[in-house]
Amino acid sequence: MCSVEANPASDEYFEAQAHLYKHILSYINTTILKCAVQLRIPDIIHNHGQPITFPQFASTLELHPTKSASLERLARLLVHNGFLAAETKVNEEDEEMEAYTLTPCSKLLVKGMEPNLASMVLWFADTGCMAAFDLLGSWFKGEVNIIATEGSVWDVLDHDPQKLKSFNKAMASDSQMINVGLRDSKSIFQGLKSIVDVGDSPSTTCRIIAKAYPNLKCIVFDHPHVVAYCSASKNLSYVGGNMFESIPSADAVLMKWILHNWDDEDSLKVLKKCKEAIAKKGKEGKVIIIDAVIKEKENDNDMTEVKLLFDVLMMSLLNGKERTEKEWKKLLEAAGFKHYKITPCFGFRSIIEAYP
Ligand SMILES: C[S@@+](CC[C@H](N)C(=O)[O-])C[C@H]1O[C@@H](n2cnc3c(N)ncnc32)[C@H](O)[C@@H]1O
Repeated sequence: MCSVEANPASDEYFEAQAHLYKHILSYINTTILKCAVQLRIPDIIHNHGQPITFPQFASTLELHPTKSASLERLARLLVHNGFLAAETKVNEEDEEMEAYTLTPCSKLLVKGMEPNLASMVLWFADTGCMAAFDLLGSWFKGEVNIIATEGSVWDVLDHDPQKLKSFNKAMASDSQMINVGLRDSKSIFQGLKSIVDVGDSPSTTCRIIAKAYPNLKCIVFDHPHVVAYCSASKNLSYVGGNMFESIPSADAVLMKWILHNWDDEDSLKVLKKCKEAIAKKGKEGKVIIIDAVIKEKENDNDMTEVKLLFDVLMMSLLNGKERTEKEWKKLLEAAGFKHYKITPCFGFRSIIEAYP
């Protein structure tokens, strides 16, 4: 018999090793999520309507017979990561079996349900998106100017209709979440007669707002080729242009997930154009920014990590950034905004209202 005494020093080593290996292999978490969406695992569990046992699950999925046991292992990791919940069920033969249900996260991946983030999973788990990060080290050394295997993100989207479609679907899926946040943020739109939503290619956000506020005149403003085939409805219209040149006049300008795409120099140019756009409304005009605010001392792990991940994503792919409150303040002041209010109401993103 062999007995090994616990050694705090070696415990620390092994914990460090496990932490390291977890991060080395974390790309598997991205790919198994993609695999779960492709196999329609959330849809199958949802459609079953009650906890689904493994044999029921495997037969619905029509798996290759040799792969059933492998699926159980995939499910075990999905349970560990919080994408499935497992409970024990007793079958007709009195045998105990695991049965799976959806969790709040996997409910967001069920086809036909809103909000639905399955397109976001497919967009970010795309091999092109993941492969681009291979170039990060070379980018830091100045050996490549952009971290992209096929040209800058906007170039790729301009020239690849299939990719543009997937990107728009992903953005639209994210904007469906706005509906959830809007329930709690009605005061944002009070007193406004018109709003221009800058850079809303799938126009999901603006359509949600136009529907929720039928008396508000809503304008989607994006590149001319992006809005060319969009059809206007009652209180929703489309205008093509370049936000660096001029933005249509309105009581408020909305920018969701726009400024994080750009560095401070370009963001400043856009904010100055926003200020011109709301000038007619005087002191009551405002710019509504929906973006992350990195807090120096934040303790919610998921929220902090997602902001920091997006920051590196923006830095790498677009030369953009997520900003701390101090950085937002500096940027807004430089653009001539006298005061601002931050309301954290969209999960890892906040509403920043900036006033002239
Ligand atoms: C990351 S997407 C954000 C989409 C949307 N706001 C959302 O959150 O789902 C950025 C958008 O900005 C638009 N855009 C980029 N440069 C622009 C410019 N110079 N003028 C107008 N729109 C622009 C793109 O076409 C795209 O629709």
